Amino acid sequence: KKVVLAYSGGLDTSIILKWLQTEYGAEVVTFTADLGQGGEIEPAREKAQRMGIKEIFIEDVREEFIRDFVFPMFRANALYEGVYLLGTSIARPLIAKRLIEIAKETGADAVAHGATGKGNDQVRFELTAYALNPDIKVIAPWREWEFKSRTDLIDFAEKHQIQVTKDKRGEAPFSVDANLLHSSSEGKVLEDPWVEPPPYVYQRTISPEEAPDKPTEIEIEFKKGDPIALNGKAMSPATLFTALNDFGRDNGIGRLDLVENRFVGMKSRGVYETPGGTILHVAHRAIESITLDREAAHLKDSFMPRYAELIYYGFWFAPEREMLQAMIDKSQENVEGAVRLKLYKGNVIVTGRKSPKSLYSNELVTFEDDRGAYDQKDAAGFIRLNALRLRTLAARKRLG
Ligand code: ARG
Ligand code: SIN
Repeated sequence: KKVVLAYSGGLDTSIILKWLQTEYGAEVVTFTADLGQGGEIEPAREKAQRMGIKEIFIEDVREEFIRDFVFPMFRANALYEGVYLLGTSIARPLIAKRLIEIAKETGADAVAHGATGKGNDQVRFELTAYALNPDIKVIAPWREWEFKSRTDLIDFAEKHQIQVTKDKRGEAPFSVDANLLHSSSEGKVLEDPWVEPPPYVYQRTISPEEAPDKPTEIEIEFKKGDPIALNGKAMSPATLFTALNDFGRDNGIGRLDLVENRFVGMKSRGVYETPGGTILHVAHRAIESITLDREAAHLKDSFMPRYAELIYYGFWFAPEREMLQAMIDKSQENVEGAVRLKLYKGNVIVTGRKSPKSLYSNELVTFEDDRGAYDQKDAAGFIRLNALRLRTLAARKRLG
């Protein structure tokens, strides 16, 4: 039995690794991805080696993550339940896709992940795995093992010489997931949705209160709906995103505290930080505002909640997501130009937008000069015909 494990190098997945070896009798292949979570990923190699792992995959997937997952999603202005920028949701299909590819390369018949049986992540990993390989076996140790408590887990770790830091003994303060798009914290001190998150929960933004009293001005350039340059400098997707994160962090941008509906049925409270993504979301809407046709924009907006829900639920590799993506991508053909923004104490304020493909017409909209382009008299008939139904209804109502 050979299993490819999504291995972060942390305590939980180290326990899972050992458990797969000792209880499952499996040969384990590890996959550790640099998604821009911050911190070193190389230590995962040594840890895996120490547990006797022969096939160790450590990969920097930041460019692929932003280019092929984050940017396509941002073209849709996707928000789950009105506010969540889907930072964790969008990373899972990429990790699962690599697990499946590595399984093929190494001749493994199973993949394993460290998501619990109570959350969304298990669903996202596994729907992707089955969508890409109908015969793959998935092992989700959290749903299978006999450990009853955190203490059982720690005892198992110590029995097998897995290093447990002091704070882990007393249990980690909360559960964190991070990548270039966001960091999320759930559980423990956050479980009472009335209690304000303590300051130490935040890890990639300063608070708006501490942000500078002077605004920072930036300019983002777009092509086909994707950002391609920042402050006049062309950058690769992950480089640009990293720079946006820095601007966002320094100005206290992108903090979110919400209660959301998990796919499995329960509500959960999460605290998210999405500094660069929050800036990009506002900027993308601004460039669309001058380059998208009204009906194209409204139609796109109308299916955005559905698109966001698909991603949240884990259906990235599903025909309905791909159909919507084709429509969204088509809408972005002329979404290009520049947006200027002020970042100020947690706010992202648009101060200008311009485009060679702009549909904005000063000649049409101006109140200053009334010659030619638009005849105000036309509006009278336009209103009369649009009012026809309403007048008919009103007349019936008056009859009683
Ligand atoms: N609730 C968010 C989501 O489902 C974040 C999940 C974060 N995962 C974690 N292990 N903390 O997308
Ligand atoms: C987990 O349960 O592993 C994290 C939370 C989630 O997936 O929603």
